[in-house]
Amino acid sequence: MKIRLIIYVEEMEKVGEEMTNVDSQHLNYKISRRIQQFKGSPTVQIFSRTKELERQGREILHLDIGQPDFAPLDSVLDATIKAIRARKTEYSVSSGLLELRSAIASHVAQHDGCVVDPKSEVLVTSGAKLALLAVLFSVLDEGDEVIIFDPYWVSYAEMVRLAGGLPRIVAVDPRTHGIDFDSLETTITPDTRAIIVNSPNNPTGWVISKEERDALFSFAQDRDLLIISDEIYSEYVFDGEKHWSFSGIDGWKKNAVVINGFSKTYSMTGYRLAWILGASDILGFCRKFIENSTTCPVTFAQYGAIAALQHHDEFKTLIKELFPPRREIVLDWVKSTKAVSAVIPRGAFYVFAAYDLSMSPTTVALRLLEEYDVSVIPGTAFGSFGKRHLRIAYASSVEVIKKALGRMTTFFEENQG
Ligand SMILES: Cc1ncc(COP(=O)(O)O)c(C=O)c1O
Repeated sequence: MKIRLIIYVEEMEKVGEEMTNVDSQHLNYKISRRIQQFKGSPTVQIFSRTKELERQGREILHLDIGQPDFAPLDSVLDATIKAIRARKTEYSVSSGLLELRSAIASHVAQHDGCVVDPKSEVLVTSGAKLALLAVLFSVLDEGDEVIIFDPYWVSYAEMVRLAGGLPRIVAVDPRTHGIDFDSLETTITPDTRAIIVNSPNNPTGWVISKEERDALFSFAQDRDLLIISDEIYSEYVFDGEKHWSFSGIDGWKKNAVVINGFSKTYSMTGYRLAWILGASDILGFCRKFIENSTTCPVTFAQYGAIAALQHHDEFKTLIKELFPPRREIVLDWVKSTKAVSAVIPRGAFYVFAAYDLSMSPTTVALRLLEEYDVSVIPGTAFGSFGKRHLRIAYASSVEVIKKALGRMTTFFEENQG
């Protein structure tokens, strides 16, 4: 068992590299260079490994994937089923049902104070990942550059590459969480086209302040750059923090697009629904991307999404009830465990914990999984800052979190010194 694990750890040591390399030598046809350079998502892959172990009968404690554990409300499920029964199983228009776009426009007007025309300034996509890809394909030519702040969500860099661009990484010190405008300035070149911002942030829990948001927007405006703001965790803010959407800035459509969706706020990850807000021109290009790829988001799922927006306050209450106690448990654990430290996350549902062991994050994550049945994500999946870090998601029940953290304490005690 030990020998097998060591081999396995070695195989997977560079999560996102060796682990995700797919061999093409047995094929009688050529695989593109573009896709061969593309790394898979380490988060999804760790999750797949847990599923494999679960099939073998193991009970895995999940602190890994960004999947809230609450079910969508019955009102959402009922609206979806009703839509299926009413044969809303045909294509919808590529931009998404106008009824849904109108509901999104009212929702953002109420929550972010922004005015968008549902006919031309809202586009519904099959998930935020596809929304990001549609935007990147719309603004990047071969070799164009996109600024990404490190630590960053795994898929940004790969998506930029897939769209022909080059990710340019700017470190943000999670201890201060401040954007360093000097390093940002030195990273900008004539080929820079866009800056990806993710607040509340996966994996650090950073929440952008109003001042920082405004400063970043002015920076982008002065240099004709596009801010691509991924606000998928907008409802997960704690300690009295407020989510400051880029869509709340006067004149934002000239230099920003805002992405949000149904996966996290409404726990509708499998519905694969998100939206992009922006100027009608950029959304027209994004729509062409959708027309030629998925055609439209799943039609009956969109009826469930309309119901979700109608019941937004109930979801918000659920999040406010469930998540702060879980966050406290993880933060208390961090405080009491000498081997681990973390910056207090103000948003999202992750703690990006630094540990004090001479073991790579992949080794730690895989040993926790294989030996202790605890699944966390290695920090290296989130850029170079993540060396000696683990991302702990607290989207599971209090019981699961407590049990998993107890086992992690044992792991660190057994492996210290
Ligand atoms: C920062 C961030 N953006 C986007 C997504 C993907 O959202 P969706 O399920 O809508 O594709 C995730 C999922 O984990 C995420 O963490």
